[in-house]
Amino acid sequence: MSSTLLPSLSPLPNPVSAMDELHFAPRLLMGPGPINADPRVLKAMSSQLLGQFDPQFRRMMRETMALYRAFFETHNDWTLVLDGTARSAIEMVMLSAIEPGEKVLVCSFGRFGQLLNEIAQRCGANVHVVQAPWGTVFDLGQIEAAIQSFSPKLVAICQGDTSTTMLQPLDGLGALCHRYGAMLQVDATASCGGTPLPVDAWAIDAVTAGLQKCLAGPSGVAPITLSDEMARTIYRRRHIEDGLQPAGYVPGAGKRIASNYMDMAMIMDYWSDAGLNHHTEATTMLYGARECARIFVQEGLPQAYARHAAASRAVVAGVQGMNLKPYGDISNKMPNVTGVYIPDGINGDKLRAALLNDFNIEIGTSFGPLAGKVWRIGAMGYNARPDCVLQTLAALEIVLAAEGHRFTRGAGVDAAYQAYKGEHT
Ligand SMILES: Cc1ncc(COP(=O)(O)O)c(C=O)c1O
Repeated sequence: MSSTLLPSLSPLPNPVSAMDELHFAPRLLMGPGPINADPRVLKAMSSQLLGQFDPQFRRMMRETMALYRAFFETHNDWTLVLDGTARSAIEMVMLSAIEPGEKVLVCSFGRFGQLLNEIAQRCGANVHVVQAPWGTVFDLGQIEAAIQSFSPKLVAICQGDTSTTMLQPLDGLGALCHRYGAMLQVDATASCGGTPLPVDAWAIDAVTAGLQKCLAGPSGVAPITLSDEMARTIYRRRHIEDGLQPAGYVPGAGKRIASNYMDMAMIMDYWSDAGLNHHTEATTMLYGARECARIFVQEGLPQAYARHAAASRAVVAGVQGMNLKPYGDISNKMPNVTGVYIPDGINGDKLRAALLNDFNIEIGTSFGPLAGKVWRIGAMGYNARPDCVLQTLAALEIVLAAEGHRFTRGAGVDAAYQAYKGEHT
């Protein structure tokens, strides 16, 4: 007999206390994301709402497209921002590009590779998964062998899989996929902005992202860029919804996309010069997305990547200095997040709680096989700064010492400080 039990929900607070103004302790978010938003992003998001067809708003949308072309180093026309969190963008691309039964090869090296697999399955694709052990990445030969034997229409992979903190090298993968007639979709939610991702140079057909990591904004919209080939594949399936079809409308030759909300072809129509209505725009989130890209482009791509790389070196030096071991193949580590083994005898959650309650600092736990074994320390976006990194490491030293971990007090923070100073000499 199947269970009809619903999830439990404990009693809600008294409505009188729910009437209090929001008043939070000021946290420093040094986990795998989300992280603290850049104050400039919050300021942009306090701008008054506009109608989504107001010429001012349409101009702002086009500026946002231009800024994200710079961010992704691409000339792709179809570079825009979707309403929905990062996984919605992954799903929109797959659902819109892949007709049921078409083949998708998923290259998975962590939990977010598993998510790519799950989304592809739910889209009705014929999915084959190749798996790299957690803590490692693929070499292109492994992927080539899988493409040769499976002949997929689409290859899907993460650039950075936050669950393992590994960063997949992507240079050459787009060309490889194209050689065998496949397109390449990359989930760069966790990595873009912290490490190079030249979309045109690397010939990637679809990249999806989120604001909540190195872009220093809140989650809720998803920057995306599509190659012409990917855009054409999707637009072949254009079926405008009944109430909106213009005179002379001819549907595309491809099968109608199974979801209205996730219909990328209709979203292209909405962002196009035709400005065809679709959903009600999340205007405030777009203001935020525009500011995130503006901050990034103003800083300069190489400078932003160097800032993340410096933070990464400092975190690694810091944890090693306190006699902790980084997780996985650190030569392929994401610069913006570092996995660290929880030492024997230390309760990882208790230590995280002490960091949060006594220092207002949040670091991350882990999922699946790494749960209870690895912490994840992020230094990204607005928080990829020496003060945030050193403050986090100093607090970590105090709580580790209190829990009886053996190391030379001060050695971690000193090593991180030296790593930063070394950058400047
Ligand atoms: C690599 C990666 N992909 C996808 C997602 C899903 O993003 P969202 O929670 O914004 O849907 C995340 C979230 O942390 C992620 O790290």
